[in-house]
Amino acid sequence: MIKKAILPVAGLGTRFLPASKSIPKEMVTVVDRPAIEYVVKEAVAAGIEQIVLVTHSSKASIENYFDRNFELETTLENKKKFDLLKEITEILPPNVSVISVRQPQPLGLGHAVLCAKDIIGDEDFAVLLPDVLVKNTDADNDLNLMIQRFSLTSAAQIMVEAVPDDLVDQYGIVDVTQAPAEGESSIMQGIVEKPAVGTAPSNLSVVGRYVLPAKIMQLLENTPKGAGNEIQLTDAIAALQKIENVEAYRMKGQTFDCGSKIGYLKAVLHYGIEHPKLGDEFKQLIQALKL
Ligand code: G1P
Repeated sequence: MIKKAILPVAGLGTRFLPASKSIPKEMVTVVDRPAIEYVVKEAVAAGIEQIVLVTHSSKASIENYFDRNFELETTLENKKKFDLLKEITEILPPNVSVISVRQPQPLGLGHAVLCAKDIIGDEDFAVLLPDVLVKNTDADNDLNLMIQRFSLTSAAQIMVEAVPDDLVDQYGIVDVTQAPAEGESSIMQGIVEKPAVGTAPSNLSVVGRYVLPAKIMQLLENTPKGAGNEIQLTDAIAALQKIENVEAYRMKGQTFDCGSKIGYLKAVLHYGIEHPKLGDEFKQLIQALKL
């Protein structure tokens, strides 16, 4: 079973400036917690037990968030604020650990994943890109379904969703003979990073959730710079697909691209109205706007 997940968080988040000027974009709050918490919880809900952050020197606040904060805990305890104490000490279940490695240079997503090679060892693993939030019910966690499918077939699983044809140049795009139904996978004929509009093999875009075999690390070591002059994970997956089956998994849930400002606002709206404590009041606020 897949127990390790790589979360590349070293990117500087220029699409999210000025908010990301002095805090990591992953720490920007969606309702009442940082965006990264949603991604980590998605991984944990899929059975992941070790989160590997591939990070940057300016982003220590992400590691701090998942660490204990003794001073804060003692203060809350002394003030008998037990609800808050529970909130901050139970962000992760006890069987889940978060460790980090640095990506010393911004050489691309493929390079970021390769930075975790020694921690991954010979285990198969998941990759979750933290810009995109994937909203599922716990019972229907897409990543979990991908992991189950991987256990069954040993074929790498690449999560995809349909995008408008004029946006294909912003994503990895897969080539499939037959598009899979939601919640299902089908064998890919190819994958290409950010194809020019009009040249894409389909409109099925790579969402940023992957289940990959350990051997992808060796392929990444031999992957030359590609689109954007960066080492692309997509290119290593294309190389893998030439030697064994790789499958596109079509997601059931909903995505929010929190790397973009409008995607972020959409996420706040959706997670806000479903918040167990704030949801009802937040809905009333939206209705009161009478747009
Ligand atoms: C990365 C991947 C791309 C994927 C996208 C999803 O690109 O390289 O294949 O479609 O994430 O958000 P980036 O957005 O980092 O340029």
